[in-house]
Amino acid sequence: VPHAATRLTVLFCLAIAQGAAAFVPPAAAAEPELPVSANVPYVPTPWPVVAAMLELARVGKTDFVVDLGSGDGRIVIEAARVHGARGFGVDIDPDLVRLSNGEARRLGVHGRVEFFQRDLFETDFSRATVLTMYLLPKVVQALRPRLFSELRPGARIVSHDFGMDDWQPDDVVKIPVADRGFGPPFSTVYLWIVPAFVHGTWRGVLRDGQRDQPWELELSQHFQRIQGVLRVGGRSVRLDRAELRGDRIAFSAQPEVAGRRVRHDFSGRVGGGEIAGEFVIAGAAGPIAARAQRAAFAAPALR
Ligand SMILES: C[S@@+](CC[C@H](N)C(=O)[O-])C[C@H]1O[C@@H](n2cnc3c(N)ncnc32)[C@H](O)[C@@H]1O
Repeated sequence: VPHAATRLTVLFCLAIAQGAAAFVPPAAAAEPELPVSANVPYVPTPWPVVAAMLELARVGKTDFVVDLGSGDGRIVIEAARVHGARGFGVDIDPDLVRLSNGEARRLGVHGRVEFFQRDLFETDFSRATVLTMYLLPKVVQALRPRLFSELRPGARIVSHDFGMDDWQPDDVVKIPVADRGFGPPFSTVYLWIVPAFVHGTWRGVLRDGQRDQPWELELSQHFQRIQGVLRVGGRSVRLDRAELRGDRIAFSAQPEVAGRRVRHDFSGRVGGGEIAGEFVIAGAAGPIAARAQRAAFAAPALR
């Protein structure tokens, strides 16, 4: 319906003009509410912004790029044409899907990318190593739990103009766009690195050469932000540093050992139900390999 399409485009531009946080559909009460799945009009990402999105995600040959609501297919096609990636796009609009597959053929990348007419909410995007989107804030918000739980740790998410509320981005860039015609004369591009799910308790045994001693890590997680407690040698101590980037985890703490605070620095990876890496313990001869298994499951409140 042309009228509805025009209204949606106005809403989209208004959302950009007002900024993601302030977005409230102004005409929501006046007209019947459209389902979330139908609320994003076609507004293409300007070419310099497409280039910036792919660069920010460091797209390369081994990547599989998925664009949710792919429009004319430009993001996935450029990912293949310029960076040698593979991938697919989905769009609800069959004409745009036809156009995208035609462009992919014309530009010689049809063996590596494909476009499907599909609702993005019904799309399995778990294969993506890079997921891109230019969607309205409430659509992004509705997708957020799935992005966190279905993308593999280390996958990159890139969003044009809209953030994910309290899931803080890992990087943000602004790209000048002089002829946009609405909102500020620039686009904002956000990057997130999907963090591993580490919330809960982890238990292992630390073999420091002379004796085995149990160690335990209790973590609470808010997306990539983590904090927690280390228990070792019967002592509990708060982590004074804790970092999670994709599946890489690092933390430091200074538990008391024989009446002295001893610095413990851990770095490792999360995968297959365990955290594996090594401790560097102040005064020890060398790094000590350490593993811990997930001991208790607790779902973090991330919605
Ligand atoms: C703002 S455009 C972005 C196009 C492209 N990603 C780009 O950045 O140039 C949003 C696209 O999402 C599509 N779309 C809207 N709702 C959708 C849904 N539920 N499933 C799939 N695509 C949808 C629209 O048809 C439109 O092409």
